[in-house]
Amino acid sequence: MSDTNMMRVAVIGGEGIGPEVTSQARRVLSWFTERRNLPVVMQDASFGVEAYRRTGKVIPDETRAAIDGADAILFGATGGPETTEVPTEARKEGSLLKLRRSLDLYANVRPILTDPALYGSAPLKERVLKGVDFVIVRELSSGVYFGEPRGIETLADGTRRGFNTTSYTEEEIRRVARFSFELARSRRGRLCSVDKANVLETSVLWREVVIALHEAEFADVELSHMYVDNAAMQIVRAPAQFDVMVTDNIFGDILSDCAAMAAGSLGMLPSASLGPADAHGRRNAIYEPVHGSAPDIAGKGIANPLGSILSVAMMLRLTLKQAEDATLLERAVNDVLAGGARTADIAGPGETALSTSAMGDAVLASLDRLAA
Ligand code: NAI
Ligand code: MG
Repeated sequence: MSDTNMMRVAVIGGEGIGPEVTSQARRVLSWFTERRNLPVVMQDASFGVEAYRRTGKVIPDETRAAIDGADAILFGATGGPETTEVPTEARKEGSLLKLRRSLDLYANVRPILTDPALYGSAPLKERVLKGVDFVIVRELSSGVYFGEPRGIETLADGTRRGFNTTSYTEEEIRRVARFSFELARSRRGRLCSVDKANVLETSVLWREVVIALHEAEFADVELSHMYVDNAAMQIVRAPAQFDVMVTDNIFGDILSDCAAMAAGSLGMLPSASLGPADAHGRRNAIYEPVHGSAPDIAGKGIANPLGSILSVAMMLRLTLKQAEDATLLERAVNDVLAGGARTADIAGPGETALSTSAMGDAVLASLDRLAA
């Protein structure tokens, strides 16, 4: 940081419902700067189709500068039908995957919490939801989403063949495993590593590296292993059994959408994508809801902003080091839900659904009450 102790947060709504939910999360972050003297300056930056139309780049230069100068990024979502107007090359150049990789964000932390107020509207039964409190750590910088070679080729007989490569180096596995063991140690001391070691070589190596690290540095943590297909089943059968789960990029992507059903809706889930810690313990970080751009509801003002708002709570805790403020915000969200506020995705039969901004209003009102 330069001459002040202000932290910088780049706010990037992105595409689809991204800007809708992010603007509510932004209001919440502003509440903390205004009411709690949080030393943060926000810089709004454009990303995606709209940015491309204006500048010819999905990530314009000023957005890149905002990202490079930021202590943390609050991101919305990317994707949707209108993105097809951007040529593939420009799209790839400015993709979220590439952005995450350029910041070396290898650990994607996705807490799965059930709020008792949502037991009734969640797709899973109340007895399954009781006591659910776990974290999925998804490896975010490698695996099949990045592996080369990849492509679609035409074979000699004219048949087309698509192919991708799953690859992990030992160090890529070790660093996300170490992050997860440390997280487990700070919680209930249990780590479940999820792989497909009965079929995939990358998973065989994954398991070997996790076991070796466990023996060398984390013998106090209880380690278990689970195949990914069983893990998908266990997450809906008995999600309360998990404390911390670590898995690769694609498995983590899929399993966390699955785990969203324990939280009531995909719209409820926050996440933090973190890079390696520097000498001062600081990490590159993007805070973003787990969901995508939700084209089916985009532009209607009905998306649930709580995943984005709870991502602000993660930012308060992990980057801004304001644990008390983070807890205050989480309490405000609990209170809002206990008071019956619902967006359409979490409304039970007969319950009135609030708009995205009305849910934002409710969280701000709850913060005002708690702070009074
Ligand atoms: P999605 O997560 O956008 O939506 C899945 C379903 O959940 C939809 O029915 C949607 O309406 C609902 N949903 C999601 N967020 C919600 C919210 N906040 N409130 C209420 N309902 C919500 O996934 P989908 O439809 O598979 O992908 C749509 C686009 O988003 C694709 O282009 C995909 O590539 C992209 N995507 C982007 C991500 C990101 O930016 N991090 C993550 C996942 C998908
Ligand atoms: Mg996903």
